[in-house]
Amino acid sequence: MVEQPDQSTPLAGVHEFLRKEFKGRNVRIYEAGGGSRSYLPLEDLSISSVTVVDIDPVQIADNRYGDQKVLGDIQEYVFPPNSFDLIVCYNVIEHLTSPDKAIELFYQALAPGGFVFIGAPNPTSLWGIAAKYTPHWFHVAAYRWILGRKDAGQPGKGPFPTIYHRIVSPAELVRFCEKLGFKTIYKQEHSSPNLQNLADRRRIFGWAIKTSIAVLNVLALGRNDFGKSDYHVVFKKVM
Ligand SMILES: C[S@@+](CC[C@H](N)C(=O)[O-])C[C@H]1O[C@@H](n2cnc3c(N)ncnc32)[C@H](O)[C@@H]1O
Repeated sequence: MVEQPDQSTPLAGVHEFLRKEFKGRNVRIYEAGGGSRSYLPLEDLSISSVTVVDIDPVQIADNRYGDQKVLGDIQEYVFPPNSFDLIVCYNVIEHLTSPDKAIELFYQALAPGGFVFIGAPNPTSLWGIAAKYTPHWFHVAAYRWILGRKDAGQPGKGPFPTIYHRIVSPAELVRFCEKLGFKTIYKQEHSSPNLQNLADRRRIFGWAIKTSIAVLNVLALGRNDFGKSDYHVVFKKVM
C-alpha cells in the first residue's frame, strides 16, 4: 500500500519514512544532481558514504556533504549494480532531456530492496504550467525581481534550465517506474511552503495566484488540484 502521510512540512514525511526504513542499517547514498545541498536528514542516518554526481562544476565545487563528488551527467553516468541503498534525485528530473535514462541507471545501480526518492515540481499545477511554458530568461527575471536573488542566472546559480519531459508528472512517473520494476512506497503532492511564503510576502501577487488556482480548480471539476505545486515519491526496487 502507498503511504499517505499527514505531516507538518512536506519533507518531514519523507524524513520519517527514511529514518524508520534505515534504522540500525548502514546506508550508501547517491545524490543524483545533488548540487551543493542535501535535503536528507543526514545527521539521523547511519551513513557509510554519500556520492554526488552533478553536471555543474560550481555546484560540485560548493558541495560539502559528499564523500565522492563527480562532475558528470546522471543520464549517462553508470555505477556497478548494487552500489547504493538510497538514491535521491531532488528537484532535478524537470531539468533532464532523458529522465527515463537516468531512472533506468538508478535502477541498475541500486541494491535489491533499495529506494529512490524523487522530488520535483508538478507540471500539472499552476506553477508547473507557468514554468513549463515560459522561457528561461523569464525564470531568471522572476528569481531576480520577485524572489530578490541578485545572482540568479550566474554560473552555478539557479534557476537551472527546465525541460519537463513527459514522465515528470507524478502519474506518468509512477507509471514509468512501476513498469521498470519499482514499487511505489510513498507518494505525496503538496503546495510548496516556499511558494506559500512568497504569496504571504507579496500580498497582491499572492491573492492573484490563490484566486487563479481556485478558479482553475472549479473549472477542473475536481479532476486536478492546480495548487499542488510539488510532489515527493519513494520507489522501492523489489527483489
Ligand atoms: C534545482 S538544482 C537542485 C540541486 C539539489 N538537488 C537541491 O535540491 O538543492 C538542480 C541540479 O541539477 C543539476 N543537473 C541538471 N542536469 C543535470 C544532469 N544531466 N546531470 C547531473 N546533474 C544535473 C544542476 O546542476 C543542479 O545542481
